[in-house]
Amino acid sequence: MTISTRVAQISPSVTLAITAKAKQMKAEGIDIIGFGAGEPDFDTPDHIKEAAKKAMDEGFTKYTPASGTAELKEAICEKFKNDNNLDYTSQEIIVSCGAKHSIYNAIITLCSEGDEVILPSPYWVSYPEMIKAAGATPIILNTTQENNFKLLPSQLEAMITDKTKVLILNSPSNPTGMLYTKSELEAISKILVEKGVFCISDEIYEKIIYDGQEHVSIASLGKAIKELTIVVNGVSKAYSMTGWRIGYIAGRKDIVKAMSNLQSHSTSNPTSIAQKAALAALNGSQDPLSIMVAEFKKRRNYIVERLNTIEGISCLNPQGAFYVFPDVSKLFGKSFNGKEIKDSMFLTEALLTEAQVAVVPGFAFGADTNIRLSYASSMENIKKGLDRIEKFVSSLH
Ligand SMILES: Cc1ncc(COP(=O)(O)O)c(C=O)c1O
Repeated sequence: MTISTRVAQISPSVTLAITAKAKQMKAEGIDIIGFGAGEPDFDTPDHIKEAAKKAMDEGFTKYTPASGTAELKEAICEKFKNDNNLDYTSQEIIVSCGAKHSIYNAIITLCSEGDEVILPSPYWVSYPEMIKAAGATPIILNTTQENNFKLLPSQLEAMITDKTKVLILNSPSNPTGMLYTKSELEAISKILVEKGVFCISDEIYEKIIYDGQEHVSIASLGKAIKELTIVVNGVSKAYSMTGWRIGYIAGRKDIVKAMSNLQSHSTSNPTSIAQKAALAALNGSQDPLSIMVAEFKKRRNYIVERLNTIEGISCLNPQGAFYVFPDVSKLFGKSFNGKEIKDSMFLTEALLTEAQVAVVPGFAFGADTNIRLSYASSMENIKKGLDRIEKFVSSLH
């Protein structure tokens, strides 16, 4: 066999396949409304771009320490202190090439062959594949819309075995937008500490939350859980910097050291110029972020209200991120042009070809009863797209 067994079992990204099809239809001149985007539709703020230009002009274009520059690590420590009430030193931080890279490094560093990783579903598409790439086994913990797509402590407790190494938490969540409260995290933390299970806490959407909600990092709930947690964050979503590829983690020194060794033999440092830009993002004005979040909130309100008026669709009101994840299972069994809608993939394809709307099927996130719509798109497009979805759904019988 040519391909290693570890890599051969990794599935291609469904999100990318749908995006490619939508792009192809667009290129053919078809007017597609895209609800697929996983990135803010705002430009990177000017002061951040200026910092990158300055870095280039000043020749800051060489290798940096493999785990990131000292000044950026210091700014990250400050961020953890101010935003999350977490004390870390620079030796407990690694800057990587995007939060995705940070998570990959963390999973590879913590997991050995045969380890189990508990992954609440719906989950971000990359987690199961990363777990498999590490030779570990994803153990899916199914959450329900009735429980706001959050795990129940009793579910977690029941799933822990002597092989359990890590729980992956993502709050606010992609795809559901749900945010764990402090007391919910306390209950989870208690179990993890009792059982000695690590937590990879993906907090990349931390800054994009609504309605005065508070984001709590599970690592801030006590010394014992801090020791067991790798906190993941980055600048991609909060500062519209998806293309710059800067993510970071904080964790226990010995884990960070091992992760740092791994990174030093693979990517080495993230781009020097992007590190300067990330520094400006963390230390500079946070006004662009507030403007973006206010706009996202308007769109969320609109999209949730509209979706819930469509018969057969039921949508929770997410408290964070920029996605809605409505249940569309009542549409299954209905037909258009003599074809029966069987599942989320079928509905997604039908929406694309019949209504010229691109969404992401829930099965990619482990929830085949739902679809994901991103509202990182203009209000005008959102309105147009929802009109089309509404018309398509009302044509079903
Ligand atoms: C839940 C989640 N974690 C991590 C990432 C990766 O972020 P980055 O662009 O910094 O790699 C994403 C991006 O879509 C995400 O949705």
